Amino acid sequence: MWKLAIDLGSSMTKIYRADTSSGIVLAEPSCVAVAGMDREIKAIGKDAKNLIGKTAEYTSIIYPVYEGEIVDLTLAAAMLKEFLARVGVKPSALRRAQVLIGIPCGASEFARREYAMLAEECGLHKVFFVEQPYLEVLGSGAMLSDSEPVFCIDIGGGVTNVAVVSGDGIIAGISMNVGGNNMDANIMEKVAKTYNLKIGALTAERIKNAVCSLADARGAIVAEGSSVETCRPAAVSVHAAELTGCVRAYVDKILEYAGAVLRKLPAEVAATVNRNGVFLSGGVMKLPGLAQYIGRSLEMRPYLCEEPQFATVRGGGAIIRDKALLTSFGRENE
Ligand SMILES: Nc1ncnc2c1ncn2[C@@H]1O[C@H](COP(=O)(O)OP(=O)(O)OP(=O)(O)O)[C@@H](O)[C@H]1O
Ligand SMILES: [Mg+2]
Repeated sequence: MWKLAIDLGSSMTKIYRADTSSGIVLAEPSCVAVAGMDREIKAIGKDAKNLIGKTAEYTSIIYPVYEGEIVDLTLAAAMLKEFLARVGVKPSALRRAQVLIGIPCGASEFARREYAMLAEECGLHKVFFVEQPYLEVLGSGAMLSDSEPVFCIDIGGGVTNVAVVSGDGIIAGISMNVGGNNMDANIMEKVAKTYNLKIGALTAERIKNAVCSLADARGAIVAEGSSVETCRPAAVSVHAAELTGCVRAYVDKILEYAGAVLRKLPAEVAATVNRNGVFLSGGVMKLPGLAQYIGRSLEMRPYLCEEPQFATVRGGGAIIRDKALLTSFGRENE
């Protein structure tokens, strides 16, 4: 029987297979390219993302699960069905598959129902929902127990979760619509202002991932786009150091909220958290120097796992394969 954990991220959908030793079996952009009024699906995942900014007017790229919310149930279901097929789950196996889906921290009943409907649309019957901070904690290498609460920060493409979690529940937490996408938008603005070059969202993301840093931003990268003045294709060399502010502005905002979460903690929990440090996950944590920057700012030891963008889905994998954890943390689809 298939056992899968699914992380429907704002930027990337990840699937982990737990009934074999496969581990992560899919990581694809969470988007769909649709054409015309009847929204014919042209591409899903990687192929759809490649079309961003390059399509004619009648094709649009839609992120059906955005900032944790299912904004387009039909397309979300089409996308997830396709991803399940790409992983190799046959339609006949969907009914019996055990599937864990990560849902936003503090998801409302309405949001939970949307996720349940999505699962149903995909033909999944045995589904467990778990709030993301539990998955982030387990996937970033911390243990969940009642006596040792864990402080974690996950910065993804569209959402940041800051939470203090114990085996007993989420003690304090906040989820905000801030992430890598905001940083990309800041980079687009900065390059337009400083270099008179209009760049697309994909280019901005590539620049961020290639040269931005909170340690010692050095070097330069060639950015291609169109000139603000002449509107003709153009390319300029962009200096990494000039872009640091574009990412730091959002990191500082996140740290302000993290400070607020810490200030609300009961004294015993604060003491434990202070001793155990902060566990970091999410794709944005790959920015060089970010973990240390967070550690210095919070005056706490930072723990950054390998491949932090997969922490959530790895945590899901750990729960779906373990009956006891699943009973403690999973809420089954009724
Ligand atoms: N090397 C890198 N440096 C900086 N940022 C990166 C790097 N690699 C990926 N990212 C960014 O990480 C973000 C995606 O992270 P992740 O996969 O954790 O998000 P998600 O789970 O899809 O979204 P969310 O959790 O917000 O719903 C994107 O903004 C992406 O550009
Ligand atoms: Mg995520």
